Amino acid sequence: MFTITTQRAEDGPAIEDLLDTAFGPFRESKVSYRYRAGVAPVASLQLVARDAGDAVVGTIRYWPVLIGHAGKPGLLLGPLAVAGHARSLGIGAALVRRTLDMAAWARHERVLLVGDLAYYQRFGFVPATPHGIVMPGENPARLQALALTPNGLAGLAGPVEPWRWVRGRGGELTARTPLPNGEREGPTPEAWEGEGALYVRHRSKRAIARALTRALRAHPLPVGARVSSPAPIS
Ligand SMILES: CC(C)(COP(=O)(O)OP(=O)(O)OC[C@H]1O[C@@H](n2cnc3c(N)ncnc32)[C@H](O)[C@@H]1OP(=O)(O)O)[C@@H](O)C(=O)NCCC(=O)NCCS
Repeated sequence: MFTITTQRAEDGPAIEDLLDTAFGPFRESKVSYRYRAGVAPVASLQLVARDAGDAVVGTIRYWPVLIGHAGKPGLLLGPLAVAGHARSLGIGAALVRRTLDMAAWARHERVLLVGDLAYYQRFGFVPATPHGIVMPGENPARLQALALTPNGLAGLAGPVEPWRWVRGRGGELTARTPLPNGEREGPTPEAWEGEGALYVRHRSKRAIARALTRALRAHPLPVGARVSSPAPIS
């Protein structure tokens, strides 16, 4: 018997132990960890499986990434791991299916992962390479993709890049820069740079995301730079 719950703050050490056992102590040198460094996981998609004694026996998380030359947002599934003694009970599949449903519900459009197609094709994943998606340094045969919308895998050719929209509080405002090309985003568009941070203000979360994309392209910030907005970006 196992149950699936959202991850609790106190689950952290048990999850790290589980991942160390499943992937080995050098797991953080894997290519996929480049996309996790300095970037927060998608909070709403952190699930764990618990046994009857409430111990964590499975974990799944996702990180946001940017895909292709167009820099389309996507999710990177993983790490996924199930404790050795609890495998082949359907826990891994339950964690994947539940989170993919949640991601689709939250209007995410696509998911990538590095893993065996033999396991992930049951969830609808297909090889990412034919779609032109490249993860530098990774074995192309291990890069898989899933569309969560009808055209979710269109227009993704190019490299996978780390996410650059990191939520956080900014420091003092030192400079103000209009959006590129004088574009106006709606009733109250504003984007400006501070010290090592980019700020965007808008009423709609979707418009904030669009404004950030444009502003970041015009004024690239180092990966992990702080980006602040008055509304959370999901
Ligand atoms: C992969 C993993 C999460 C699956 O968890 P699980 O709870 O055992 O998965 P499920 O019960 O949903 O499915 C088990 C089935 O998948 C198969 N399977 C597991 N890993 C597989 C793989 N890499 N390729 C193909 N099939 C695989 C098992 O043989 C089993 O087959 P069976 O039902 O015929 O016995 C688990 O084996 C694990 O933690 N492995 C180590 C870490 C890892 O490789 N994570 C995935 C990284 S991409």
